[in-house]
Amino acid sequence: MKSVLLYLSEQPKLRQFAVGSRVSRNTARRFVAGESSEEAITAVKELNRKGFSGTLDYLGENVSTKEEAQAATNEYVRDLDMIESAKVNCNVSLKLTQFGLDLSEDLCRENVDQVIKRAGSYGNFVRVDMEGSAYTDSTLRVFSALRKVHTNVGIVIQAYLFRSDKDIRDVLQLKSRVRLCKGAYKEPPEISFKKKSDTDRNYINLMKVLLKSGIYHGIATHDPNMISATKQFAQSEKIDKNQFEFQMLYGIRRDLQEQLIGEGFNLRVYVPYGKEWYPYLMRRMAERPANLLFVLRNLIRG
Ligand code: FDA
Repeated sequence: MKSVLLYLSEQPKLRQFAVGSRVSRNTARRFVAGESSEEAITAVKELNRKGFSGTLDYLGENVSTKEEAQAATNEYVRDLDMIESAKVNCNVSLKLTQFGLDLSEDLCRENVDQVIKRAGSYGNFVRVDMEGSAYTDSTLRVFSALRKVHTNVGIVIQAYLFRSDKDIRDVLQLKSRVRLCKGAYKEPPEISFKKKSDTDRNYINLMKVLLKSGIYHGIATHDPNMISATKQFAQSEKIDKNQFEFQMLYGIRRDLQEQLIGEGFNLRVYVPYGKEWYPYLMRRMAERPANLLFVLRNLIRG
């Protein structure tokens, strides 16, 4: 089921159909804060009110023209202006293929550089998301070049890839802030763990490396076992709750989000918005087929 959903997430015709349908647009709202940045900022205000910080993600990936990459750059710069003027506690997360990575690494780096500079002018921060393994090397190259010039940029590392232990040690050499996640793409068995228990074991090992580094990292997961392992490790190593943050996705495990805030942990919610929600939504279905039932029920009712 997971593989089928991840395969479907990459099908342009299905994407066109889903985005054009009112019912599927409404259904996506459970996981996506809205289509405009104004709606996303409203969602962040509400999250801030409950004690969560946010990170805005303007949905979109794999652009094929310079103009589309520039439009994404402009949108993120505008988001940072809006975050500043609304005085919300929120940074931004972006995908390099939305900034032209398929066209040229230089173009992509220059575009992201503009966003990081604008964030820096406000004392804000930019997180570079990690995409499928076809982009891991290029993402790390672009990230490293940017990190050498800017301190306010961080990266994501995926625990399901065999290579991640080395990648984490490399990015820690640059004193980078890391978001650790399990990984959301369809990857071949030659390079990735296929058993959940293996990914989980690697996640816990990498979490320990991160927490011991003394840098402020993001532990991104909804998995209660990963969360308890993190809490236990932090306690045994006397690492204060303020030295790291948990991160979760908008609309997922709100009960757990509130519990962690209640216990005094920092929690950042990833808030996606925009019209290009199809691949994002499909990856969320793949993680939990029960979400598919929710969508199918809505489609039948609609
Ligand atoms: P796992 O998938 O093992 O799920 C554990 C439990 O969490 C489930 O039993 C269920 O209760 C709950 N759960 C998980 N997913 C759910 C869902 N979709 N709906 C409802 N419940 C769900 N990936 C990537 O490749 N690159 C990236 O840049 C990012 N960025 C990112 C940011 C943030 C803030 C988060 C939280 C996640 C990502 N991810 C990501 C996604 C990540 O790789 C992973 O696919 C999901 O977080 C699901 O993995 P879990 O760690 O939650 O555990």
